[in-house]
Amino acid sequence: MPKRSTDHPVGARKRRASLPLACPAPDVATPLLGGLTPAQFMRKYWQKKPLLIRQAIPDIEAPLSRDELFELADSDDVESRLITHFRRRWALEHGPFSPDELPTPKTRNWTLLVQGADLHDDRARALLERFRFAPDARLDDLMISYASDGGGVGPHFDSYDVFLLQVHGKRRWRIGAQRDLSLKDGLPLKVLANFEPEEEWVLEPGDMLYLPPHIAHDGIAEGECMTCSVGFRSPSTSELTSQFLYWLAERGADHGERKPALYRDPDQPAVAHPAQLPPALVERVAGVLAKVRWTDADVASFVGSWLSEPKANVVFDAPEKPLDEARFVAQAVKDGITLDRRTILLYDSRSYYLNGEQCLLKEARKWLPALADRRSIDGKRFVTLSHDSCVTALLHEWYRAGWIRTGVLA
Ligand code: SIN
Ligand code: CO
Repeated sequence: MPKRSTDHPVGARKRRASLPLACPAPDVATPLLGGLTPAQFMRKYWQKKPLLIRQAIPDIEAPLSRDELFELADSDDVESRLITHFRRRWALEHGPFSPDELPTPKTRNWTLLVQGADLHDDRARALLERFRFAPDARLDDLMISYASDGGGVGPHFDSYDVFLLQVHGKRRWRIGAQRDLSLKDGLPLKVLANFEPEEEWVLEPGDMLYLPPHIAHDGIAEGECMTCSVGFRSPSTSELTSQFLYWLAERGADHGERKPALYRDPDQPAVAHPAQLPPALVERVAGVLAKVRWTDADVASFVGSWLSEPKANVVFDAPEKPLDEARFVAQAVKDGITLDRRTILLYDSRSYYLNGEQCLLKEARKWLPALADRRSIDGKRFVTLSHDSCVTALLHEWYRAGWIRTGVLA
């Protein structure tokens, strides 16, 4: 994605070294947010109310052409959906789709949605970089949709904060903050039963609409259109709870003593009603559960590990002919290193979390936060790291696993 002068307004030079280049610093006004600074946007709009931004990215180019998107949708490891609304009937199919399985662009009322485009294409990943004024821990993915004239997914709501960026053609959006979020029965997709739009706009290339979770919306293509959705997930309380308890149980199993504690009932008398659930059994289970304990550090470990876990379809490609450590270091000193677009690297004050694994920050404290924030280290900075054999051995391991590569994105 070419860098445009409009992305670096006055004051941009003050950006801290840790920020990725494409992302506006918290206190720098940016066209991406309609002239607000990220700090103002987060305060006034994030999770609070919708914002329409005309020409958020002027002269935007779609990260992928229509044919490239169709090619992606033909791949086994890409999550794609085809939604049609032919003869007023909604239908949903899951990919992969060979090009001849898709309706022609001249056929009206269909849309192809490709999830996680950032995992498969560096240009799509580069677009996401602009949105890193919100924490990576909240970032989910970049979805790209292609729609023929009249195409859309019907009025619905999401559990996501989403930036809907128009990258090609026009789309008419209608939105409403209705309370009634009941859905139509018997449909293969979530369509609101009673959509009550309050506002309406036609978005053109470069325009963007921010929506917090649960705002009802409907986007209908006016001619062929492509939209990029940058999604930030808001896990539900029940998902957080079940994932945490699962993590806690697994962690218990990992720490496992040789003789795990078992449910015991040596005082269980013989029964005349074998099907009856013994109240004493329930009491004993309650006693076991009441002893479950965790600390804030456990919660941090869970959150970091869980949120840095790659999606199920992610497979890292190790380099075909990996350089040995000395050659890797020589190359990195020349060209720098970059996190693979699929890599998720988070950190807190004690640990870092790399693709689902927690490690102590300790000596990595000196360099890892900058790598995680910028997602790259240039050759010049790498020279300093290259003197520490523990660091180069670690980074070489990551390189062999396909988590980082040499070179820095332009
Ligand atoms: C689309 O891009 O077609 C739909 C995006 C959305 O409504 O969330
Ligand atoms: Co939506």
